[in-house]
Amino acid sequence: MANMSPRRLLPLLASPHKGGRSALTCRFRCGDQCAHDVTNPSDNPYFGDVVAQAMSRRSMLRAGAVGALVVGTGVGTALPAAADPDVEAETLRHGGGNGPGGSGKLRFAAVAPNTDDKLTIPAGYASAAVVRWGDPVLPGAPAFDFENQTAEAQAAQFGYNCDYVTLFPIGHNRGLLWVNHEYSDESLMFRGYKDGTSATEEQIKIGMAAHGGSVVEIERVGNSGEWRLVTRGRRRYNRRITVHTPMKFTGPAAGSDLLKTAADPAGTTPVGMLNNCAGGTTPWGTVLTAEENFNQYFVNGNGVPEAQKPYLSRYGVSTTTGIPNGNRRFDRVDERFDLAKHPNELNRTGWIVEIDPFDPDSTPVKRTALGRFAHEGATTSLAADGRVVAYMGDDSRFEYVYKFVSKKRYIPGFDRHNRTLLDEGTLYVAKFTGDSPATEIDGSGRLPADGKFDGSGEWIPLVTGNVSHVPGMTAAEVLVYTRVAADKVGATKMDRPEDVERNPVTGGVYVALTNNSNRTPAQADEANPRSANKHGHVLEIVERRNDAGATTFAWSLPLVCGDPNDPATYFAGFDKTKVSPISCPDNVTFDADGNLWISTDGNQLGANDGLFVMPVRGPERGYLRQFLSVPVGAETCGPLISKDQRSVFVAVQHPGETDDASPENPSSHWPDGGTSQPRPSVAVVWHTEGKKIGS
Ligand code: FEO
Ligand code: CA
Ligand code: CA
Repeated sequence: MANMSPRRLLPLLASPHKGGRSALTCRFRCGDQCAHDVTNPSDNPYFGDVVAQAMSRRSMLRAGAVGALVVGTGVGTALPAAADPDVEAETLRHGGGNGPGGSGKLRFAAVAPNTDDKLTIPAGYASAAVVRWGDPVLPGAPAFDFENQTAEAQAAQFGYNCDYVTLFPIGHNRGLLWVNHEYSDESLMFRGYKDGTSATEEQIKIGMAAHGGSVVEIERVGNSGEWRLVTRGRRRYNRRITVHTPMKFTGPAAGSDLLKTAADPAGTTPVGMLNNCAGGTTPWGTVLTAEENFNQYFVNGNGVPEAQKPYLSRYGVSTTTGIPNGNRRFDRVDERFDLAKHPNELNRTGWIVEIDPFDPDSTPVKRTALGRFAHEGATTSLAADGRVVAYMGDDSRFEYVYKFVSKKRYIPGFDRHNRTLLDEGTLYVAKFTGDSPATEIDGSGRLPADGKFDGSGEWIPLVTGNVSHVPGMTAAEVLVYTRVAADKVGATKMDRPEDVERNPVTGGVYVALTNNSNRTPAQADEANPRSANKHGHVLEIVERRNDAGATTFAWSLPLVCGDPNDPATYFAGFDKTKVSPISCPDNVTFDADGNLWISTDGNQLGANDGLFVMPVRGPERGYLRQFLSVPVGAETCGPLISKDQRSVFVAVQHPGETDDASPENPSSHWPDGGTSQPRPSVAVVWHTEGKKIGS
């Protein structure tokens, strides 16, 4: 349909790697996971088969946390997607209406796909790097010096590969920025780096210190939407979390035999966190940060007791190899990474970690009630009755979508009570059923006769408190081996579930499904309708009565990604000649109007990754436009629209991480320019006249 649009199809990158990622990203991010066998061998049906305030000052500060917005009972109005007539009717009946949330009217000229080594933003906007890899975080930390790195310096400086970003305002002009540091890329951090076996011990220790997270104080520049790092004074909240930070387990699996080790015979005090990807905030003003591809950090999986091996395999750890290719060899400086010596250490990672940004002396908490898998993130909302709900994705091919619902209710301002909420409740996994005949879902992406990929679904309970709902598994086993439990109850295998987040204005829940090159036509189902799914899609859930506590829902796909000239794409029925191409949706967030913002990871249309925005209601539903693109080799992470809608924050992760790049031959010089080495950094974008974003 060449006459539909003047846009040309961008050439595909010639990459041997699945997805648009470089070899370096695959190796360092997730241990070349895509090159390995799929780790879900269960025979769960692909559902195609089936179809065939009295608040303290402290809590007032917390109440301003961006992202902690929650939907009240029935606030949302009907989304146009509800397919189950029952759910649709309920949604309509209970939808009180709360303004035109998510209905659009964003005004900016979309950024064109490009391969430029810069942050490309719309006309009328400006951008700046707020905090960069190596910037001092703790008072007294040395300035960044690429040629003279030490582990001691890195442990006090901003870590590598920033991912999830959230902002806790302290008044109008100051705030605490929380940032995840997902992983280190030693081949770009050090000259001449080959692998973990030949690395110096100091390099290994620098890599360990580059992981984790940071709390940094930032300040508004003048009265603009620009923010900068505070570099003077006490900065009493500033903090670095690393692989070495003491933590604790809480919840039903804390103290279980599966979590005990020689160093921690009680099974309650894990150390550090690994590969923290996305996250969320709680209504009480703490961070939830998610351990994702933790499997890649361990060695000697071939040396664990035979009975444990199936569980290692299910979590992507080789049981036949001693030292996997590309391993960072943390075991050379800390033997807990040697599974032959400490097989249970693997079970002590892969959790959601809660961290209090306002208390630098607090102990981070691994909340076992939220299960263990390759956690992309955890985002919260409130059920109609006030219980806390956390939505979560397991980011691997053919893995599942989860949610946790607390037993008790959230009580505003009652901090001590609220901090127990994520320790007791029910963990559910999602099952999606299509409403079109299986014969109409052929893997091509062609819409079925009813014009929508849609259907109904249910949240299947896995465990409630100490009571397992999975035959043959104890509650602790369900929580530690959550993937195995979900296999047994017939959860739906999805195309890499990344962020799962509830729209604070409409109540719709959005699931980013990045891609899945391994899905065959026979495995296509209505919720994952394309085989060899290169570009991914976004799934929208409308829970019964628009209540986050519900156990049934309607769902549809408002966005099937790719080049809009490709007939196997869908933009909620909006005119495809007007929308931006998009590939590999990863993180999602919402602005105060309820518009859906989507960042991408691994664009397979030959252009850099970017940040996009799409109204989800009204006549502009589906009108997706690109707001920015990131530099060469980078991925767009942690998008955050400030509550006042005057600032957009993005974590520019792994700039310059392209095949054959090295410190001698960098492929990006962002953000410092000239001949500098690339530095993963959080950037802010604002309107030069101080206007609201998109107004
Ligand atoms: Fe760290 Fe799922 O991306
Ligand atoms: Ca349908
Ligand atoms: Ca991600």
